[in-house]
Amino acid sequence: MTILGIETSCDETGIAVVRGDKKKLTILSNIVASQIEVHKKWGGVMPLLAKREHQKNLVPVLLKSLKQAGLYKKILGRKQSVGFKKKLADILTRESLLLPRVSRFLASCEIPAIDGIAVTARPGLEPALWAGINFAKTLAFAWKKPLVGIDHLEGHLLMANSFPPSPALSLVVSGGHTVLIVSRRQGAYTIIGETRDDAAGEMLDKCSRLLGLGYPGGPQIEREAALASKEDIRKFGIRLPRPMLHSHDYDFSFSGLKTAVLYDYRSRKVAVRKGKAYVRAMCCELQQALCDVLVTKTLAAAQEHGVKSLLLGGGVSANKELRRQIAEKAKTQLPGISLYIPSPEFCTDNGVMAAFAGYISLVRPRKSTIWRTSRRIIASSHTSIPRL
Ligand code: KG4
Ligand code: ZN
Repeated sequence: MTILGIETSCDETGIAVVRGDKKKLTILSNIVASQIEVHKKWGGVMPLLAKREHQKNLVPVLLKSLKQAGLYKKILGRKQSVGFKKKLADILTRESLLLPRVSRFLASCEIPAIDGIAVTARPGLEPALWAGINFAKTLAFAWKKPLVGIDHLEGHLLMANSFPPSPALSLVVSGGHTVLIVSRRQGAYTIIGETRDDAAGEMLDKCSRLLGLGYPGGPQIEREAALASKEDIRKFGIRLPRPMLHSHDYDFSFSGLKTAVLYDYRSRKVAVRKGKAYVRAMCCELQQALCDVLVTKTLAAAQEHGVKSLLLGGGVSANKELRRQIAEKAKTQLPGISLYIPSPEFCTDNGVMAAFAGYISLVRPRKSTIWRTSRRIIASSHTSIPRL
């Protein structure tokens, strides 16, 4: 089964083609267009700008992805009936920039040999999500292919290993989420803990802005932390809290950490806090505070739930220190557990996530699958495509 996956939940336009064969998923293509340059000057992602950029990027990214997968065949101007044009215009009423681009593309592209289309349906930035959803709808309509809406969190956790030994525990830690998810069988998920306020990546992005580093904050903080010298760390003696480390549950909280950074920053003389040495020492302590909380709580959850595999996913899991520390501690504290961490390019958002989750949904359709212990459904992996 060959699936086209589309991801536009935040600031990356990702489209991939994946071939699934029972227990094996093969990536045939993977194209990501990043909008970092557009959002940089705002210090964070602007939802309406993200929507505009997705509308510009979707067709070129699809074209490259189909070409890379060897599935693109150009044809000479397919005729489009009035009814067809009207339907496209109906679907893309709110994506007017996308309409002429899609229409031109559909007229000149042979229907590709795919079996289904998967698109990130939630959670994410609403205007950005809609660009991808409505684009996927036009393709599904024009090519007469099944369309499935997938959950972004499921996409992230599948990147480490799509068929991990069960039960599995996943830590999805990104700009929008910090969640611990237990999966007792493939496609069935229970959220056992999540952030009560900021997501880890969001906190890093905000601290980065405060410290005068750029966006996205995670990679900048990682880079500065690696440059901190022992002397600087000792000289400034920064000590940040480890929020909820001993809370006896698996929830997280990061807004206090952000405030602690702000208070320490403000307590320093301007000449000091603007200096490289202070910024580096702060980044080092901040990264360590984050690692301490994430690693300790994740390993405790893995032990309590008796899991066989531990998976990491989401942009923050690209962090080298987090990867190193969790691997080191898991090896000594939980030697029987297999740890899976995606390569850094698959930690951040991409179309493969959508295609993998789409494959699993299309092979075995499910209803609501990601639950919180309170039984409030926060997401479902066979998410129906929201109506206009
Ligand atoms: O998964 P992702 O691409 O988008 C969301 O679903 O949110 O994650 C983006 C987040 C940003 O907050 C970014 O600062 C963070 O991941 N990030 C990192 C690293 N690379 C990206 N955080 C820490 N270390 C990194 N190397
Ligand atoms: Zn993400």
